[in-house]
Amino acid sequence: MNRIIAPSLLAADFNNLQKEVEMVNQSNAQWLHCDVMDGVFVPNISFGIPVIQSLSKISDKLIDAHLMIVEPDRHIDSFVQAGAQNITVHYEAVIHLHRTIQYIKNKGVMAGVSLNPHTPVSLLEDIAPDLDLVLVMSVNPGYGGQKFIHNSFEKIARLYELLQRRNSKAQIQVDGGVTVENARELYDHGATNLVAGTTVFKSPDPKKTIDELLYV
Ligand code: DX5
Ligand code: ZN
Repeated sequence: MNRIIAPSLLAADFNNLQKEVEMVNQSNAQWLHCDVMDGVFVPNISFGIPVIQSLSKISDKLIDAHLMIVEPDRHIDSFVQAGAQNITVHYEAVIHLHRTIQYIKNKGVMAGVSLNPHTPVSLLEDIAPDLDLVLVMSVNPGYGGQKFIHNSFEKIARLYELLQRRNSKAQIQVDGGVTVENARELYDHGATNLVAGTTVFKSPDPKKTIDELLYV
């Protein structure tokens, strides 16, 4: 199984972003997870297109844009131009999801859909074969450092079953409260791509922690 670790920059030291990106570059993480928040879809505001553009110039890793914003369609072109290589939109923020997913893929980048903790996986029944990634939010989006919602394990298993049945090649990404302690169980339930903010960036040895998440 191909496992991917995507450190979430939200927990990085924003006074030293270059140093933090260099750490990720030197690590075995494959993706760099960038949380975009608009203060409307989620209560918090993080960073946006100019920051991603700067990050993409110094990152050797795949730029993973997690858009926690309303009306993401308005900004897809800008995120692609800024260097995003995977764009994940929220199921709850998009009206014509099929159109949005096709639009992202036609730009030559990967397309993902994220589900809030209350959104059932069954809603992906028809779109599943079109997706490159499904992001299961294992906390309510908006903040780092929250406690993992236990129901997510079962949800991941149900999603895995749905993707198999629908012949979808989509990766299962999990975001929120991911730790070295729960990583193994997440893989066992079908996740292949783990986002980790606090666990990586607040670790005394982030590169070692990335390896622990990867090889647990
Ligand atoms: C939360 C973000 C996450 C966040 C995860 O809304 O989508 O990516 O950075 O943070 P941790 O890993 O600290 O729970
Ligand atoms: Zn995220």
